[in-house]
Amino acid sequence: MARFIDELKRTHDCGALRPEHVGAEVVLFGWVQSRRDHGSLVFVDLRDRAGLTQIVFDPDVGPEAHRLAEGMRSEWVVGVRGRVRSRGEQFSKKEGKMVSAANPALATGAIEVEVLEATVFNRAETPPFEIADELDTREEIRLEHRYLDLRRAPLQRALRLRHTVNQAVRSYLSGHGCLELETPVLVKYTPGGARNFLVPSRLHSGKFYALAESPQLFKQLFMVAGFERYFQIVRCFRDEALRLDRQPEFTQIDIELSFVNQDDVFALVEGLVFEIWRAGLGIDLRELYPEGRFPRMGFDDSMRDYGNDKPDLRFGMKHVDLTELVVEHGGGGVAFWEPLAEKFRSGAYRRDLPPEIVKALVVPASAALSRADTDKLEQLARSMGAAGLARAKVSADGSWTQSPLAKTITPELRLAINQAVGAGDGDLVLFQSGKASTVHTVLANLRVHLGKKLGLIPEVGHGGRWSFLWVVDPPLFEWDDEAARWAPAHHAFTRPHDEHVELVESDPGKVLCHRYDLVLNGFEIAGGSIRLHDPEVQEKVFSALGIAEEEAREKFGFLLSALRFGAPPHGGIALGMDRLAMLLAGTDSIRDVIAFPKTQKGTDLMSGAPGGVGPEQLSELHVRVVAEE
Ligand code: AMO
Repeated sequence: MARFIDELKRTHDCGALRPEHVGAEVVLFGWVQSRRDHGSLVFVDLRDRAGLTQIVFDPDVGPEAHRLAEGMRSEWVVGVRGRVRSRGEQFSKKEGKMVSAANPALATGAIEVEVLEATVFNRAETPPFEIADELDTREEIRLEHRYLDLRRAPLQRALRLRHTVNQAVRSYLSGHGCLELETPVLVKYTPGGARNFLVPSRLHSGKFYALAESPQLFKQLFMVAGFERYFQIVRCFRDEALRLDRQPEFTQIDIELSFVNQDDVFALVEGLVFEIWRAGLGIDLRELYPEGRFPRMGFDDSMRDYGNDKPDLRFGMKHVDLTELVVEHGGGGVAFWEPLAEKFRSGAYRRDLPPEIVKALVVPASAALSRADTDKLEQLARSMGAAGLARAKVSADGSWTQSPLAKTITPELRLAINQAVGAGDGDLVLFQSGKASTVHTVLANLRVHLGKKLGLIPEVGHGGRWSFLWVVDPPLFEWDDEAARWAPAHHAFTRPHDEHVELVESDPGKVLCHRYDLVLNGFEIAGGSIRLHDPEVQEKVFSALGIAEEEAREKFGFLLSALRFGAPPHGGIALGMDRLAMLLAGTDSIRDVIAFPKTQKGTDLMSGAPGGVGPEQLSELHVRVVAEE
């Protein structure tokens, strides 16, 4: 029988020992973080998930153990039995006297363990990178050896944080009457929404399952089935273009509630978020939000002032819409604004839903951007689809310099713009005009870029600042230019505002709905809606969308039937757990808080997924691969 583990049980973890343990005999297990030879003494920092403890091998105290220690290398797995002692004093050359040998940077820094007996459980090859907090090793190499990367303290902390958040979520939601229920991952493919991963069926030739992009339909069925309040911490799958805050498989805290309105959903989620911050970070959000509520902003206001529906409110730099002004002034002598003004004048463009707009963003004089800086901004704008980035530096007398617009613009429009954007001496005005969606995207991204560049928000992490916002009341429909018809802006089962129901047929563009997103520091951390449970309104919405009954049945099948059998009013939301964890942990990549993430290209560098399969498997699945040339 092995002496360690079988007889000698671990007594403490490597983060536990303090001065009050001095004199105690202890058994520690862990990994060799580092090993130093000091003459006859060997010092090892022993690491486990709880921390580091310094252990000392002295040939006079444990000769056998000392012999073992001489061969120990980084990442070997060892066990020791020893006695805790105070680190005592050592001679400091710098101070020319004896000073305490304690290491105040380490929780266990006041003590060390003098080893009486040791064992080597396992040796380790030299790892491809050091197990250190800060590394400049390429991420690809870290991901290839993720099991080693995960030994590093920042990742240990991140996953521990997820554990804490998971527990807090379960306890809070269960305490608020929500049942944790599971839904299928292999589901039927339905068109629309995110692109699905497909799984070929072996038993049904030519048929496919889809991996659920969210439990949306099923959680609504739980409401129809009378479970009233549901939650699930659930994996979702979406085959989308990946970004720093997106993964092909990610985790939602998914919630659905019966007999609620939007305020009820918000109250539950606000309480949940407060609880997550308390449990995860020890932060009381009531100091920032004494009422326990997060502020709300209308979708239209958010688009107008910030160009998207997830504004980072930690800094200003609002956009200013100049469309009206430019139209009023007939383009004001600026060649590329004139056609746009003409289209409004001739009635080709509606003022309430303009497909083309003019907007500006003011960079304060204090930013003192160089020519190279502004050229870089222009490059950035172009990379986002802009044709360029018109700009003007405003002088004390209101004239413009460094601007291609300066020569031709009428003094009236120039002054009107200065006034509208509130620009003073030395300020730089950036302009975007054209397709509304491009203008919004470009200026929204420029704003965040400038916020970081000017130090208004930190480059990475949150800087201890938390800015939550509900973005509410978006339009139910959006105009699909290509198909030349109205399409659901989110999904077809979102409830319109009661007072807008009559507009569904006459003026769909004006219909606002009960959809909402929760935004934190410029990231969308949750999204949901109050659902359309009543068949009458639903029919109106479908007819406005031009969806015939047949098509509706094909697309929404069982949900549509279920809603006919006594569906309670219901609504819900899903929080993006990975994004939450990323923001809580203060990193800028979702990969830092996921144990085994995929790369930006959707690959797993450790396991090699996705990988090829043999011809036999393919034929069993009735699949033929058309090899790319
Ligand atoms: P939605 O699509 O808004 O809503 O998703 C909810 C939240 O999930 C997070 N999220 C992601 N996180 C990481 N990687 C991704 N690829 C990814 N996609 C989304 C975001 C987002 O706010 N069924 C609805 C919810 C509902 O209506 O109740 C849904 O899935 O933080």
